[in-house]
Formats: sequence, C-alpha cells, structure tokens
Amino acid sequence: MRIKIAEAGIDNEILKQRCEEMAQWHGLLMSDDKTHLGANFKGWVKLPETIDEKLVDDIINTAEKIKEKCTLFIVVGIGGSFLGAQAVIDAFNGSREGWPEIVFAGFNMNGAYINKLKKRIARESVCMCVISKSGRTVEPLLSYAVFKELIFGKYGYKEARKRIYVITDETKGDLRPEAFENQFKSFNIPEDIGGRYSVLTAVGLLPIAVAGHDIRKLLDGAHDMQLSDWSAGSELVPYGAVRTLLQEEGKFLELFEYFEGNLRYFGEWLKQLFGETEGKDGKGAYPACLFFSRDLHSIGQFLQQGRQMFFETMIRIDKRNDDVIIPWPAGYPYAGKTMEQINGCAEEGVIRAHIKAGIPVNEIHIDELNEFTLGQMIYFFEMSAALSAYVMGLNPFDQPGVEAYKTEMKRLIEDLKVSR
Ligand code: PA5
Repeated sequence: MRIKIAEAGIDNEILKQRCEEMAQWHGLLMSDDKTHLGANFKGWVKLPETIDEKLVDDIINTAEKIKEKCTLFIVVGIGGSFLGAQAVIDAFNGSREGWPEIVFAGFNMNGAYINKLKKRIARESVCMCVISKSGRTVEPLLSYAVFKELIFGKYGYKEARKRIYVITDETKGDLRPEAFENQFKSFNIPEDIGGRYSVLTAVGLLPIAVAGHDIRKLLDGAHDMQLSDWSAGSELVPYGAVRTLLQEEGKFLELFEYFEGNLRYFGEWLKQLFGETEGKDGKGAYPACLFFSRDLHSIGQFLQQGRQMFFETMIRIDKRNDDVIIPWPAGYPYAGKTMEQINGCAEEGVIRAHIKAGIPVNEIHIDELNEFTLGQMIYFFEMSAALSAYVMGLNPFDQPGVEAYKTEMKRLIEDLKVSR
C-alpha cells in the first residue's frame, strides 16, 4: 500500500504534532493498558496476530461442509454484522465458481425483498447464518424468524439444525440460548470486539470462506498492516492526521472515491466505520462514497465548482488485470488501447482537475485487488478511524446514537395492531 496525503496547505509543524499525538494513541491502543477510553473494545488491534489457528481451521472446515450442502447461503445481519463480509465478497464479484452464492438479508424489513428470498429458499438448496453481536437487533431477528420457519418446514428439524449457523457475542449474545437449544453450530464474537471492527472475526470470515475466498490471505494482509510502521514519521499515520486537521478547517465531508465498481460495498463498510466511530458529540466528517466514472456525470459538477466543504480520499488500484481492448479504427486516439488504460486516464485526470480546483485529495494506492490487499486496507482504515476519533477526544468504539431510533421504533411496534 502506498499513501499520498492531500496537499492541503496545512502547516508542517501542526501536521507533525498531530501525527505525534496519533502515534501516541496508537502506542496506547497496542499496549495492555486497560484503563484508557475504549480500552474494553480493542480486541481487534492484535487480532490478525493472535487469532486462534484452530478457529481459522474450524471456519474453513465449516465452509467446506456448507459448500457440500447448499447452493445458496443466506447471511442475516445488519451494520458491522454484514457490511465487512459483503465488502470483501463484492470486491471479488461474488463467490468463486463452485461455491455457494451468498445473499445478505436482515439489513432491511422490506416485505418484497424478504418474499423474493422466501421463494428462493423454497426452490434452492439452502443454508443460513444469523449474525448479531447483541442478538437483540430487530431487523436481523425478524428475517431470521421468517427464514428459520421456512427452513424447518422444508427440511424437518433434524436436517434443518445442520443448515443453520449462529454468530453472536461469546457471553452476552442473546442468540446463544437459541443456538444451544437447537444445537446449531455457532461461533463467538469476542467480547472486546465491536460490530464495525469485527470483519476479521467469524462475522466476516465465515461468509467470506463460504464464498470460496482465501481468509488466511486476508488475515495475512491485515497482519502485515498491523506490523507496519505506525510511528509519527511513518507513511500511514499522516492520513488520519490530515483528515482530522481538514475537519478543523471546515471540511466536514469525506468522499471515498474509486474507479472500480467492485469496491461499492467496501465504500458502504467505510461509511459505517467512520460514521459510527467519529460521528458523535457534534463532531466527525460525514462519510460518503462515489463510484467514478458514473458519479462524475451526476456529482462531478458539484465537486469541481460547488460548495467546498469536503475532501476526497481516492482508493486507487494500480494493476487492473481484467481488461478489454477497445475496437476502434486505427488512427484515432482510442485505437489499440484498453478500457482500463482509459479508466486510468480518467482517474488521473480527475485528481489533476480537483487539485487545480483546490480540493484536498488523499490517494490510497494498492497494487491489485486481492485478499491480501483487502486485509491490509481493512486494518489500515480501522486503525485510521480509531486514531482519528481519539485525537478528537471521542470513544471510537461506542455508538450511543444508534439506540435513539430503536427506542422510538419499539414504542411504535407495541402500538401496532396484530395482523393475524
Ligand atoms: O458497529 C456496531 O456495533 C453496530 O453498527 C452493529 O454492527 C449493528 O448495530 C448491528 O448490531 P448487532 O450485531 O448487535 O445486531
């Protein structure tokens, strides 16, 4: 990974100080200190190194068994309980050949979406995994109830038990008794790892393995990033430093941009990671995602000349091997060139035009999109988000604001008329 931070006219001394502050937080986060802010939820920082090999074997073996049993694997979860898995699986355009198709559910309560899946469950060979750290989140619990009834009806209790998997908190997960009573195979979410930092636990690893992708390489990439230099003078820390300093200058939106459509869900994962990590106490940059070229023709005008309250973080994939030669008559500028070459020109062109317009643009370069580089990016952004929150005086690992709508919704649910 190579990082070029925005040249945002920030005083070098101020940037250096912010990097030092961040490096200090990094040191504390990596230490055994259990007293600092958020210390109860830092299990993810050493996870790539400490993850139990037996657990990884168990996940891979379970994925093999699921592959033998079904063509459709339904993953029920919301927020951190599905976005990381979908980010990785989508980056590879879905499952590898011969592995079950992964369909996500439980992140909405749309009858039409659920009915469509019900029809697929009726006609296809299915396994399901419900993922909820708390085991109390309404959206996944409701979809789980519908699909479980269907799977029990279709396969009968004895077989259905072997087709349903549960991933929940090791001690506090409310789905634990459900798994125990039905003897569903279950995996733990460690107590000290919160939802949006849990993609490298069974939460992300099981669905990714069922899709046929190499979870060991993903963990290796994250491990590589864990062991990288996170000191003040490193290449990694300035990204977080500059994004917090830009916010202090009124740049309240971070636009994550990519010219690779398969990063769409990686963008959704980033939205949750940054939105919930630093969006509190009236602080934080609103995270949004843009897919180019598509969005250059909808929002490009605004970026170039509209209200300048944002900065950009572009994820650039340097080698894009899946390419197409453009069939264009000789003598014209496109002749003999490839789509990805032209895509690269658009990418470079956007950066040049935006920098000329005075927009701060960070560039995160990866060589190519594979499990290892995705693992690196996951850990890099997790650490950058956590350090950003710390220097803003925030606890990176709570999300008290998510509860507010739930309280209102639960009141309204109680007043609903029973429909059968
Ligand atoms: O980051 C978080 O902790 C949250 O966004 C959760 O991932 C989300 O609310 C889902 O919670 P749960 O896994 O308990 O169902």
